[in-house]
Amino acid sequence: MRKQSSQISPQEVARQLECCDQIRERLEQKPGRRLACIDTYGCQQNEADSEHLRGFLTRMGYGVTSDSNEADLVLLNTCAIREHAEQRVFGNVGALVHGKKRNPNQIICVCGCMAQRAPVAQRIQKSFQHVDLVFGPHMLWRFPELILQVLESGKRVFETAESDGVIAEGLPVQRQSGIRAWVSIMYGCNNFCTYCIVPYVRGRERSRGAQEIIEEIEELAAQGYKEITLLGQNVNSYGKDLEQGLNFAGLLERLAEIPGDFRLRFMTSHPKDATLELFDVMAAHPSKIAPHLHLPFQSGSSRVLSAMNRGYSREHYLGLIEALRKRLPQVVLTSDVIVGFPGETQEEFEETLSLIQTVEFDALFTFIFSPREGTPAEKLPDPMPKEEKQANFQRLLLVQNEISARKHRAYIGTTCLCLIDGEEEPGILTARTEGNRLVRLKGDKSLVGSRQQVRITEASTWALLGELD
Ligand code: SAH
Ligand code: SF4
Ligand code: F3S
Repeated sequence: MRKQSSQISPQEVARQLECCDQIRERLEQKPGRRLACIDTYGCQQNEADSEHLRGFLTRMGYGVTSDSNEADLVLLNTCAIREHAEQRVFGNVGALVHGKKRNPNQIICVCGCMAQRAPVAQRIQKSFQHVDLVFGPHMLWRFPELILQVLESGKRVFETAESDGVIAEGLPVQRQSGIRAWVSIMYGCNNFCTYCIVPYVRGRERSRGAQEIIEEIEELAAQGYKEITLLGQNVNSYGKDLEQGLNFAGLLERLAEIPGDFRLRFMTSHPKDATLELFDVMAAHPSKIAPHLHLPFQSGSSRVLSAMNRGYSREHYLGLIEALRKRLPQVVLTSDVIVGFPGETQEEFEETLSLIQTVEFDALFTFIFSPREGTPAEKLPDPMPKEEKQANFQRLLLVQNEISARKHRAYIGTTCLCLIDGEEEPGILTARTEGNRLVRLKGDKSLVGSRQQVRITEASTWALLGELD
């Protein structure tokens, strides 16, 4: 049972599918195939959303192209996490004006997290007249209705009202891969880390019902998917908004019992809510739950963590890593870190370096603090000059690269079970270890989608080289 009513009714979802059919009929009045181009920025949540948008577009009768010039509909699914990400999108939206001049009937849409930010929507309204439709993540389920509105009215449509967010089940989906699938288990975020824009654009935490998730995964397993990644900004708080009495560890255990040759992954875990129960479940299901944890630490200084409103200390984080490694010694650990949070001193940065050296992550996603409008951190005094932050950032990269390279070298001579997931160039396959490390090997593309034993022969900072065993 959901405590608050944020569920979109099946009737409303059915109405959207009817809108798809109406659009299809309209488009079929003119000869020729209609094509849509989706450009996705940001995190896996956006990738998953784009798979639903593609599902809608397919139902409307659109084929898919990666070339915006030949597209009848262009959709940019955007990310607002850092300023740089936004600048890139503005550049790309601006460039679309030329294609629109050649093809005035082209429909250009901007959606995703940027679209939910009022200043962005205002800027598009004023300065990017060639954009026809702007809608935020809360309106994704209404995409068909909004497109129909654009087609029928010939006017620009903006749907960016603020909301705590909704849950819509039963949206069509067109997955990009037949091997790997994303499954959102919750949406939104309640944590309000002081640097982060996500809670403002994605609304409050909403968990999907366990039964819906179980059914989706059973279906994916039956279709032969080999890897299923559970998504949420903080999967560890799954279920807190429901009255079904199942937390994330309980859900994961239930999903691990579903028969089939698939591995479960999940991201992102928040250290403040990661539990020993979760680690126990991971250790108890080694053939179903991948031995990989992405646990962003953000900073090695408890003072900075508190200023970030992260809700844990350096010691708590290190304690979690120790507890996990005790249960799963082979676990692959990855993390996110921010350099140059406002007020971070040189000593505090050194604490971040020392945490990295203590834990020895397999890989790190590294970011320089980017002020986000409307977040508390944007207003904090930020005395450290850019050049010093940049120098710290470079030092951190060097330290981590050395660790990643060393960890990778330790694979040489071992044999790893890998999922072959693609062909990079003729005869060269890409694969992933159970811990999600990238492997390249020679082989025939008929192996794509299968699990193989691979003997690791060489290693670099970023990848492993291997041979079929
Ligand atoms: N929900 C996830 C993170 C999602 S954002 C979590 O809490 O772990 C992905 C990463 O982007 C964050 O972990 C953080 O390291 C980085 N990030 C978020 N906001 C940022 C900002 N304003 N400047 C720099 N990096 C940021
Ligand atoms: Fe952002 Fe923090 Fe929420 Fe992650 S947990 S999405 S960093 S506010
Ligand atoms: Fe970006 Fe939105 Fe994801 S801001 S990181 S796309 S939730």
